[in-house]
Amino acid sequence: MELAARMNQLKKESAFVVLAKAQEMERQGRDIIHLEIGDTDFDTPRHIVEEAYAQLRAGQTHYVASAGLPELRGACAEFLRRDGRGEYRSEEIVVGPGGKSLLFCAIMAVADPGAEVVYPDPGFGVYESVIRFSGAHPVPIPVLEANDFKITAQDLRDRVNERTRLLVVNYPHNPTGGTLELEDLEQIAHVAIEHDLIVLSDEVYASMLFEGTHTSLATLPGMRERTITLESLSKTYAMTGWRLGFTASPAAIAGELTQLLSNSVSCVPPFIQMAGVRALLGSQEESREMMAAFKQRRDLFVAGLNEIPGISCLTPRGAFYAFPNVAALPMTANEFSDYLLEVGGVATLPGSAFGTHSDDHIRMCFAHSTGKLEAALDRISSAVDHVAG
Ligand SMILES: Cc1ncc(COP(=O)(O)O)c(C=O)c1O
Repeated sequence: MELAARMNQLKKESAFVVLAKAQEMERQGRDIIHLEIGDTDFDTPRHIVEEAYAQLRAGQTHYVASAGLPELRGACAEFLRRDGRGEYRSEEIVVGPGGKSLLFCAIMAVADPGAEVVYPDPGFGVYESVIRFSGAHPVPIPVLEANDFKITAQDLRDRVNERTRLLVVNYPHNPTGGTLELEDLEQIAHVAIEHDLIVLSDEVYASMLFEGTHTSLATLPGMRERTITLESLSKTYAMTGWRLGFTASPAAIAGELTQLLSNSVSCVPPFIQMAGVRALLGSQEESREMMAAFKQRRDLFVAGLNEIPGISCLTPRGAFYAFPNVAALPMTANEFSDYLLEVGGVATLPGSAFGTHSDDHIRMCFAHSTGKLEAALDRISSAVDHVAG
């Protein structure tokens, strides 16, 4: 019996691997603080949950059009318009079960076997995995601490050639918390236009920018027609388990993404879509409060990390991850991340889970209560004392 060779191209997402291991340790009675996965302890705001109940009772339980309900596609366009992130018609919006599914569809729709795709390294592990799965060649572009965790236009130029089809950008950035300013985006746009690239702009953390303003790449001259903007309700509304995301792109690309969804998941459940309408168009107060709380949690956690000898952490400007450098410890980051879980009871991810340019770092999600973060800092500090011994 033989299975498809292409399956060897897919990589396991490390966050879920470590989560499974940490949960197994908990089943055996260990007390673990979970900083490995990008999720928060906030519950989905009540009015969104109530809307889902009401829609279930109203019978929103059947198949619907693959690209999404008109109400939700309109609400997504309004969400982007409201934040100055472009004017889109409903036909240009596609709704999928989480941003991740649309990321998969976008790469599969654009990257031919043999083509090249440039993507951030370190970066969300799914990029490289799906690029390989599509048969295209992954070309990593470094996101370095020395450059404030930004990609540079020169690094991009050095990696683009006539085979390059797609550029993936992600800002605010997972795992580093870096972001791109208008002038960085202008330079990236220049290269994309010059080389006629399609750009997948993963902006799922756009609402989680702690300083400055987020500019969507698609709003720059010449970019709308070549950009697929990826958004998700997961992080902005604490809806990770609902699985709801969307893209904004030219209608021709939207049509192809819809084909892929229609051939795989058919549609997102309509009661979930209608709850999404409520999230996007209803009160934004709770979402804003959560984002403000993340900023306070960031400040507490990063200050605490920087007090631990051997650990240094740049302040992340967006997203809910700290990405400290642990090169000064007498262990590799991989070993320290293992040690923190096995001995310290804190689950984290080593930078190597995100690519080849972050071997000295570990990622920790700080979207947790201050009590939990303080307990995590105590455990990390004791672990460092032990290893530095
Ligand atoms: C950079 C990035 N893009 C996309 C996603 C996908 O999120 P979701 O599928 O929950 O919408 C994530 C999730 O962690 C992410 O970090």
